[in-house]
Amino acid sequence: MNTPNIAQKDIINAFNYRHATKEFDASKKLSDDTINFILETANLSPSSFGFEPWHFVVVQDKELRELLKPVAWGAPLKLDTASHFILGLSMKAPMTKWDSEYIMNIMKDVKQFPEDVIEMYSKFYREFQERDFDLDTDKKLFDWASKQTYIALANMMTAAALNGIDSCPIEGFHHEKAEALLRDKFGIDTEKYGLSYMVAFGYRKEEPGHPKSRRPLNEIVTWK
Ligand SMILES: Cc1cc2nc3c(=O)[nH]c(=O)nc-3n(C[C@H](O)[C@H](O)[C@H](O)COP(=O)(O)O)c2cc1C
Repeated sequence: MNTPNIAQKDIINAFNYRHATKEFDASKKLSDDTINFILETANLSPSSFGFEPWHFVVVQDKELRELLKPVAWGAPLKLDTASHFILGLSMKAPMTKWDSEYIMNIMKDVKQFPEDVIEMYSKFYREFQERDFDLDTDKKLFDWASKQTYIALANMMTAAALNGIDSCPIEGFHHEKAEALLRDKFGIDTEKYGLSYMVAFGYRKEEPGHPKSRRPLNEIVTWK
């Protein structure tokens, strides 16, 4: 495997280039290869214990996009103009609890752990959930899975920016109403999956209206 060596100035340029794009140029579409490249960076993202507690729904159907508008106040203009619009789902307790079928299967089928390693890993994972991280409610387990799905979000947006592609992360939605919609109209099993965020990809319609504002680095970093 080649050691990556992208110039730091090019990476910083991509971080400056990325902005939360309010409106996309609806006439410009990402190719299938490009959207798959972005999704692959989600797939290659790290997750706690490597359990990948996420799922991504790419919403290209116009009618389904319309249905999202009333429950997602932060999304209408993006739903109308983005080339690709993705729902970032995270697994709920029935999927991520230490003894769930999903966890057993990922250890067996994806990681190909032998039986004794599965037993050891399970014990460790149980202790992590019950003792170390106190993940004792469904909400805590979902939020914990969500944290990881957000890593995939950041990676997708950064990878896109490195490729000159724009994005907008979206949390502007009513959680309960959005999940009811996903259950009723998108065929998503909301016992198992919840909506963490939406994210739109495409090409900016115009340059951002204001320069990037951030606190100075010395205010957010402490060296000891
Ligand atoms: C988790 C998350 C949720 C966000 N939700 C929305 C949203 O619903 N609608 C929107 O237009 N921007 C949304 N944003 C964009 C932020 O407002 C934006 O990232 C922030 O103001 C910094 O600006 P920049 O991304 O252009 O540098 C969200 C950003 C994050 C990280």
